Amino acid sequence: MFTEELNRVGYISRSVPTDKDLRTLILELKKQKNAVILAHYYVSAEIQALADVVGDSLALAHAAKKTDADIILFCGVHFMAETAKILNPTKKVLLPDLNAGCSLADSTPTADFEAFKSAHPGAVVVSYINCSAEVKAMSDIICTSSNAVDVVNSVPAGKKIIFAPDKNLGTYVAKQTGRDLILWDGACVVHVNISIDKLIALQARFPEAELIAHPECEPEILDRADFIGSTKALIEYAKVSPVNTFIIATEAGILYKMRELVPEKKLIPAPALETNSCACSECPYMKMNTLEKVFNALYYELPEITLSDDIISKASVAMNNMMAIK
Ligand code: 13P
Ligand code: SF4
Repeated sequence: MFTEELNRVGYISRSVPTDKDLRTLILELKKQKNAVILAHYYVSAEIQALADVVGDSLALAHAAKKTDADIILFCGVHFMAETAKILNPTKKVLLPDLNAGCSLADSTPTADFEAFKSAHPGAVVVSYINCSAEVKAMSDIICTSSNAVDVVNSVPAGKKIIFAPDKNLGTYVAKQTGRDLILWDGACVVHVNISIDKLIALQARFPEAELIAHPECEPEILDRADFIGSTKALIEYAKVSPVNTFIIATEAGILYKMRELVPEKKLIPAPALETNSCACSECPYMKMNTLEKVFNALYYELPEITLSDDIISKASVAMNNMMAIK
């Protein structure tokens, strides 16, 4: 389909498109259609290289809210594109592949979450942004890995708090805040796939290295970490730390931006339990974003994210409650 369409518009007749050609085509289309490309640090380097904004979940939510582009092309996963639609509902929001999901968002079917809420009446519902628009609509306030501690601290003392869906982030936030959180049993398939045994062996091999970790990692990894933070915080830490070697316990896409910012430092991805081509941790959903799909999405203005007015209005209350904090 893609090749046929390129033929129709005359690009193939010039040359078989290489990645560089596609990049040029995407940038032309982006300008023509007044679109903005937002990309998460976990998507491929070639997509990060052409995005207008590359960031963590919080930075991308702020970028989606303030953009005056007509089209937001979100290179990330489904819940992120939904978040952009909630924050800027008059814009057309595109996601290159609708199948780009997230194990955390998938862990909370709405009926089960409703039952969980009913089992804890009166609890304030704090939901990690990695959840569906429906779950956001059922929540009081959203958080990201950047601001989860501040968000939980903003809940009046003495109130019960449900924290969903990431139990690892929730456990970390409970330790940081001293609050007793009622945790939903969800996890990120990528961060729980980091091998603690291989990590310990790697630390023994590189004793000079600092271990920096995303809070979606399991507690035994976070307990060993020298620094814990969101993807953006990890990148900033690698920049300001005087240390020259880091073991990085998060998705490997983060290495693209880190290598750009600290080319002189040694960056070692934390080893995965199951080995893939890079022996590191890769999010299969984030990697569904390809240059071809980005081009198609911009060209056809599909697949588009659509949400009901009711979900948008309820979910935006929880989102804006968060964005008023940080
Ligand atoms: P942040 O973007 O908040 O670092 O979260 C990482 C992540 O897993 C996104 O899905
Ligand atoms: Fe979801 Fe984990 Fe992939 Fe982030 S890295 S999108 S939390 S599965």
